[in-house]
Amino acid sequence: MEEREEAYQRKERASLVAIVVLACLAVSSLFVAFSYYCYIRNKVSKRHRINKKFNCEEKGDCQDGKQEVTDKEMHVFTFKQLHSATCGFSKSNVVGHGGGFGLVYRGVLNDGRKVAIKFMDNNAGKQGGEEFKMEVELLSRLRSPYLLSLLGYCSDNSHKLLVYEFMANGGLQKHLYPIIRSGSVPLRLDWETRMRIALEAAKGLEYLHEQVSPPVIHRDFKSSNVLLDRDFHAKVSDFGLAKVGSDKAGGHVSTRVLGTQGYVAPEYALTGHLTTKSDVYSYGIVLLELLTGRVPVDMKRATGEGVLVSWALPQLAERDKVVDVMDPTLEGQYSTKEVVQVAAIAAMCVQEEADYRPLMADVVKSLVPLVRSRGSGSKLSGCSPNSPGKASVGSQ
Ligand SMILES: Nc1ncnc2c1ncn2[C@@H]1O[C@H](COP(=O)(O)OP(=O)(O)OP(=O)(O)O)[C@@H](O)[C@H]1O
Ligand SMILES: [Mg+2]
Repeated sequence: MEEREEAYQRKERASLVAIVVLACLAVSSLFVAFSYYCYIRNKVSKRHRINKKFNCEEKGDCQDGKQEVTDKEMHVFTFKQLHSATCGFSKSNVVGHGGGFGLVYRGVLNDGRKVAIKFMDNNAGKQGGEEFKMEVELLSRLRSPYLLSLLGYCSDNSHKLLVYEFMANGGLQKHLYPIIRSGSVPLRLDWETRMRIALEAAKGLEYLHEQVSPPVIHRDFKSSNVLLDRDFHAKVSDFGLAKVGSDKAGGHVSTRVLGTQGYVAPEYALTGHLTTKSDVYSYGIVLLELLTGRVPVDMKRATGEGVLVSWALPQLAERDKVVDVMDPTLEGQYSTKEVVQVAAIAAMCVQEEADYRPLMADVVKSLVPLVRSRGSGSKLSGCSPNSPGKASVGSQ
């Protein structure tokens, strides 16, 4: 009798344990399912927030002041369309010989829009293909008045072409170091225009670094990638080498070193650690070009003057010496106070220690008071606005 009762109690205990275990399992499965649901919900709403952020710039109704865009519909052109837009890629329509990508042609689309068409060189190889992809992917997401717009592309088995808005005055570098043709007056940008270009280019980088999440590092910021429209307003171009940066404050991405000699930040050249501060360094070099009218590296210059940054930096901090580094063609157009301020910004941007370089937002804030708001008048010194010289520059 007792034995039967004991067995009965044992069975009862076992069933109780089984029920408790099952209940625990059920609760933990519910918990796992709920956590997974929360994780997915969080992910979806994060994506939604990012998309919303991009949307808002396009509509111009951002409440937090950030500019945001949607994925733009990229027009896909046929090779035939671009062939006819450039009169069969005629030599007379070539407006630029790119460093690595290929020739740049001026063209007119069927609807009358003027465009610039970059024709990828067949020798551009894998790197060229990657740059093409990055340019299309990024520019279909980013939109700012300070970035060059990509209107569309053509990609078939044998051709890769990019179609951009046309910038009538081409790259900044050719206005800083104009080729003096016999009989023609060299065209130089005046001080006010240089300051406005500096500000607009800074706004382009500020957008990439601070108004896009995660930030975008341009990686090839240089004077030939700052393009000028017919009124000499500036836009940043060439995103083929761009890299999506780290979301963490001060975070870096490790990558192989690409860019252009004379513009690459020292820490990036040495370690491959890339941050938005690498772009700030390159921006500082362009600011030095605007101030001095000198190319970043030219070993044919006098001893000690070959590398622009090494020559200029010690003089930027000294009020008496700073005027000595200035482009001689700017004589009399600026006040020493203004030059000292811009020289200080340039000096901060090209500091060896990346952490001490300013944010692009700080650069923008410092430049704003130096740019007087005025209409787009003559942007060149050495010629009248309607001189043949200007027409030849603007007609590209
Ligand atoms: N959208 C455009 N509108 C007008 N001219 C342009 C345009 N894009 C490029 N160009 C002209 O073509 C030139 C070459 O541009 P490209 O970007 O191919 O080469 P780069 O900037 O000199 O060198 P890299 O290939 O290293 O960027 C520019 O300097 C500019 O004069
Ligand atoms: Mg370029």
